[in-house]
Amino acid sequence: MTDHLLYSKDGAVASIRFNRPEKKNALTTAMYAAMTAALEEAAVDDSVRAVTIHGGDVFTAGNDIGDFLSAGPLDAEHPVINVLTSLMAFPKPLLAGVRGVAIGIGTTLLMHCDAVVAGTSARFATPFTKLGIVPEAASSVLFPLIAGRSRATWYLLSGEMFGAGDALEMGLVTRVTEDSEVDAMILAMAATLADLPPNAMRTTKRLIKARFADVIDAAFREELAEFATALVSEEARAAFMRFMTRG
Ligand code: COA
Repeated sequence: MTDHLLYSKDGAVASIRFNRPEKKNALTTAMYAAMTAALEEAAVDDSVRAVTIHGGDVFTAGNDIGDFLSAGPLDAEHPVINVLTSLMAFPKPLLAGVRGVAIGIGTTLLMHCDAVVAGTSARFATPFTKLGIVPEAASSVLFPLIAGRSRATWYLLSGEMFGAGDALEMGLVTRVTEDSEVDAMILAMAATLADLPPNAMRTTKRLIKARFADVIDAAFREELAEFATALVSEEARAAFMRFMTRG
């Protein structure tokens, strides 16, 4: 287990918190494993009716690059694959609150959430091409579904960072508020959903996702194969090395 990811419960709402501020909440394999365990526990705990995901002053800088490169092959046993599978299958309302940067998987995991609140400081980016890699977490299909093909294409190709207002307009986030209100707002929204009949909630969530499930699953798998190939390419090695050795 790791102190870098916290799991807590307050009534019917469970919360997952990234807790590695000194590294901008960059996500390690240990954090992915802890997050998978938290999601699995919340999925089967009948007292939990909704789950919130929080960062701190930053949401997350995405994969911890050094840890990710040393974590072994990107196969079905890889902690990042497990966490994405758990996110995609999560049966209860999943909400996230974002302040500061949400980079890479920090943005793509939001595409699996049912509601996202962004603080005015929130900044999102999918810088895959800049790193010599390709979209993950089914974002090659989810981002166009959410934001429209033209805008999603631009941000997936360019990796350009965008703010809370753009994210709201695109539909990536549900509401924008002051940074100081993000946690309270997402917890209040989770409590609202947690108060509603749980079976209707689950079935509604399942129905919303059902028509796209096959497409999302196919994209997830194809992206993974391409991601694994790209990861060992010269383009990616050079980009990752630039980050690791920057002054
Ligand atoms: N992986 C590993 N370490 C990371 C990281 C990541 N994705 N993001 C930040 N960190 C570390 C930095 O190396 C630094 O560590 P140090 O203090 O030991 O040197 C620490 O977190 C603080 O980051 P720093 O870059 O100094 O903060 P900043 O405010 O200037 O910039 C970011 C913050 C997030 C914009 C910048 O760190 C960044 O671009 N990170 C990489 C994001 C990325 O490409 N993610 C996708 C990975 S697939």
